[in-house]
Amino acid sequence: MTILHTPICDLLEIEYPIVLAGMGSWGMGTPPELVAAVSNAGGLGVLGCSNLPAAEIDRRIAAVRSLTDKPFGVDLLLPASLAQASGSRAAVRREIREKYPEHWAFLTKLHQTFGLPERPFQEDHVISTKLIQEQIEVTLNARVPVFAAGLGDPAIVVPEAREVGMKVMGVCGSPRNAIRQVKAGVDVIVAQGTEGGGHTGAIANFALLPQVVDAAGDIPVLAAGGIFDGRGVAASLALGAQGAWIGTAFLVANEGGLPESLKDQLVNASTGDMRVSPYWTGKPVRAVHNEVSQAWSDSGLPALPTPHQRVLMEDFKEAAMTASRFEITMNAGGQGAGGIRSKRPAAEIFNEIIETTRQTLDSLKGL
Ligand SMILES: Cc1cc2nc3c(=O)[nH]c(=O)nc-3n(C[C@H](O)[C@H](O)[C@H](O)COP(=O)(O)O)c2cc1C
Repeated sequence: MTILHTPICDLLEIEYPIVLAGMGSWGMGTPPELVAAVSNAGGLGVLGCSNLPAAEIDRRIAAVRSLTDKPFGVDLLLPASLAQASGSRAAVRREIREKYPEHWAFLTKLHQTFGLPERPFQEDHVISTKLIQEQIEVTLNARVPVFAAGLGDPAIVVPEAREVGMKVMGVCGSPRNAIRQVKAGVDVIVAQGTEGGGHTGAIANFALLPQVVDAAGDIPVLAAGGIFDGRGVAASLALGAQGAWIGTAFLVANEGGLPESLKDQLVNASTGDMRVSPYWTGKPVRAVHNEVSQAWSDSGLPALPTPHQRVLMEDFKEAAMTASRFEITMNAGGQGAGGIRSKRPAAEIFNEIIETTRQTLDSLKGL
């Protein structure tokens, strides 16, 4: 039986090179139970905290620690620079009404079309510089073993993280951004192909991974995007990655925090349903295509920049979720959803990925 162990396992002090991707998912964040299940199975669980206030991040870190003594990580979305973060949601809404009245009117029409009462997103989450700084601070203070930075430039956290003994991971979607991660001094680079769920770039993994591996030099690379079983992990290893960062496959886990209807959408989706739209946040997001993403693209309006489009759509999503209208909310996921057929415990998903990776690697030996 092939042993599935790469140098990144020693670096992260884990048994298998499989990492639960950071998934902040618009205010919900990752349940500690899912993180602990992946860490306890021998991988690295990562708490997606990008949309959570600092006190909630602190609570979830403590909850993970009560469920496992294995290493885990926290994922935050950093802006390219802290100066890029903007003011409050109320200020952003005001600006949309003044500068982009057509978009404001379109959103009002969307509410009417779908019979949704307006219910603006209340929280001031992760719109202000102050909140991002608080998120970083709470994570560093907790000395979580791994700090993962999706989007943005991790250079702003690397020195402090090093000082407290944390490893830093940075996500990139292009060879150019891989160089930025190298310059930032990260310990691990995650290369996310366009196949991936959530915010995603335009380059597919066959082209992306070998180029990021070359750019990374001695820094280990994890492959991300579209990996839903061990065949994807084995292919990633062949392309030079040392393991995989897997999101969508774990979204449907019993311990996952999504409402069951959203899990069912993913289980029933075909790969063709998982489309990229700029309208959910202002940056390209891969999610289940639905009447709302279609209506925006039919409108002919350009997506507003972040954070305007995001604030606009978070209000819509809040109204849809409150009304349990799951068919018109954003349900982020990758192209791999087409290969996911059932909701199961995370450990079962994890063990099957390990098993099928070994089988694939073994079968290649005969060639
Ligand atoms: C629902 C969802 C939410 C996500 N949120 C984040 C996030 O907050 N931070 C981040 O770095 N990446 C986020 N991502 C991207 C994942 O970290 C990861 O790169 C991606 O899921 C990998 O592709 P896969 O879904 O095909 O496995 C998200 C992805 C999904 C599906």
